[in-house]
Amino acid sequence: MNLESAFSNDEIEAGRRLFTLPWAFARGTPDLDHLPPADRSEIAFAGRSNVGKSSLINALVGQHNLARASNTPGRTQELNFFTVPDASLYLVDMPGYGYAEAPKPIVKAWNEVLRGYLAGRANLLRVFVLIDARHGVKDVDEEIMALLDSAAVSYQAVLTKADKITDKALPHVERGVREAMTKHPAAFPDIIATSSEKGGGIDQLRATIARLAAESGR
Ligand code: GTP
Ligand code: MG
Repeated sequence: MNLESAFSNDEIEAGRRLFTLPWAFARGTPDLDHLPPADRSEIAFAGRSNVGKSSLINALVGQHNLARASNTPGRTQELNFFTVPDASLYLVDMPGYGYAEAPKPIVKAWNEVLRGYLAGRANLLRVFVLIDARHGVKDVDEEIMALLDSAAVSYQAVLTKADKITDKALPHVERGVREAMTKHPAAFPDIIATSSEKGGGIDQLRATIARLAAESGR
């Protein structure tokens, strides 16, 4: 599913090992005043409302309900931090953006929090920008990617819900997303197509995270 950066068996294994650890909820905060100390590396999951951020975290850690997922857009309303016993890494589930149905003041507050967090968090190793495989890159995704470019935060596109399109359609979607990403200097060029439902791409995403954590040297 990920054509450009193949992982060795050892790297896939390292990714699996990282995610057999007992990941647990550490903290949730609706604002920037209560973030946990930036004392470990961090990987954040951003994306439009309902794109599958919480489900993807659950698929990575192999737990059904660590992050709360729901068919109702706007489910995740805080920055939720998950960590492991050796305290080496945070995974961060974020409120979705682009949720038009929510009351305007709420949308504004969420946007401020997620923009402030993404642009100002020194220990962020990478942001995964989740893109629904059925819909491709939307204007709101472009806005977030522009913010990440200007903040010089490393980010990478991850396709979600790959099980909802045909195997034949997937390469076309990947090509379109790859093309959109070439305009963004801070974007890592590889795209990982995932299905939290069927498990596709999860090992690659685990290996990507394990590699980033190892490279960060913590
Ligand atoms: P917000 O917190 O509201 O921003 O949403 P989210 O991005 O966290 O999405 P969430 O994980 O809650 O998933 C939204 C819906 O999509 C749920 O009904 C999930 O079951 C469904 N979903 C998520 N990932 C997949 C997937 O890979 N395949 C399929 N078929 N459905 C998925
Ligand atoms: Mg969520």
